Amino acid sequence: MSTTYGTFPGSRPRRLRTTPAMRRMVAETRLHPADLILPAFVREGISTPAPISAMPGVVQHTRDTLRKAAVEALEAGVAGIMLFGVPEEAKKDAAGTAGTDPDGILQVAIRDVKAEVGDELVIMSDLCLDEFTDHGHCGVLDASGRVDNDATLERYAEMAQVQADAGVHVVGPSGMMDGQVGVIRDALDQTGHEDVSVLAYTVKYSSAFYGPFREAVGSSLQGDRKTYQQDPANSRESMRELALDLAEGADMVMVKPALPYLDVLAKVADTVDVPVAAYQISGEYAMVEAAAANGWIDRDRAIMETLTGIKRAGADMILTYWATEVARQL
Ligand code: PBG
Repeated sequence: MSTTYGTFPGSRPRRLRTTPAMRRMVAETRLHPADLILPAFVREGISTPAPISAMPGVVQHTRDTLRKAAVEALEAGVAGIMLFGVPEEAKKDAAGTAGTDPDGILQVAIRDVKAEVGDELVIMSDLCLDEFTDHGHCGVLDASGRVDNDATLERYAEMAQVQADAGVHVVGPSGMMDGQVGVIRDALDQTGHEDVSVLAYTVKYSSAFYGPFREAVGSSLQGDRKTYQQDPANSRESMRELALDLAEGADMVMVKPALPYLDVLAKVADTVDVPVAAYQISGEYAMVEAAAANGWIDRDRAIMETLTGIKRAGADMILTYWATEVARQL
């Protein structure tokens, strides 16, 4: 070449993409099984796992199959499991009583998994009322039907205690109530559970992508969660939520959903000195599975690409329904 254009032909970035070995060597982001956390649903009173139609490949577990799933995750090298309890329909009420019953399905599941894998896998639990309320909201309602923040905090404090009593390592408050992290931290400390950590759902947007989850937990939600979950239009607000949760004692923070909010995830990861998690949620899972089932995308490549993107944006840990499958491939 006689002419130069900028630094071309001196600079040829393609040299570093020539072979698989070369690309592997210069990869800036590497997924590891220990990056992954498996969210899992366990349903009370069933004897065979119930498929979730909007999440092909994911089931509501029986107590037995949940134990097996925990062992499989552990054997694949997955770091942790996030448990969601689905109570019998008749046990749902306005206060979400089953969520604080020591023999409620989530507490039973925590004990089951703990008995099976001990401390080998990090056991986490969703700390929220929506799986247990008959109205489907993440908190208790006031007389006008609005979610009552401070009354809900009292319920969360009780939930933290029963989940910790059951042996959980990490609680994951996901209800987006103001003050939830501080109240939960206090409740844990006052009941001798100083070592139980709080993974705060710090940045949680009101998202259409939670759709399949509602089926997964048999939620009867009427209306939406827009008075407590964040508006997708906002990013600066996430920095405020982050500062509050850290001040209240969050040990780890989470951004959720993942893919539509990678900008927020990157900003959070640049800001904090605590571990950062991202939750690749039900709708993100369903989109890939649906497109792949139609032959429109390469499923395995798409899965790896989304997870790599989430890690590249700054996540230290990723909650994904593909955790065990992906960990086996890595
Ligand atoms: C609340 C909770 C939700 C999810 C995790 N915790 C539902 C919601 O906020 O509406 C969604 C997870 C997913 O969609 O995969 N308990």
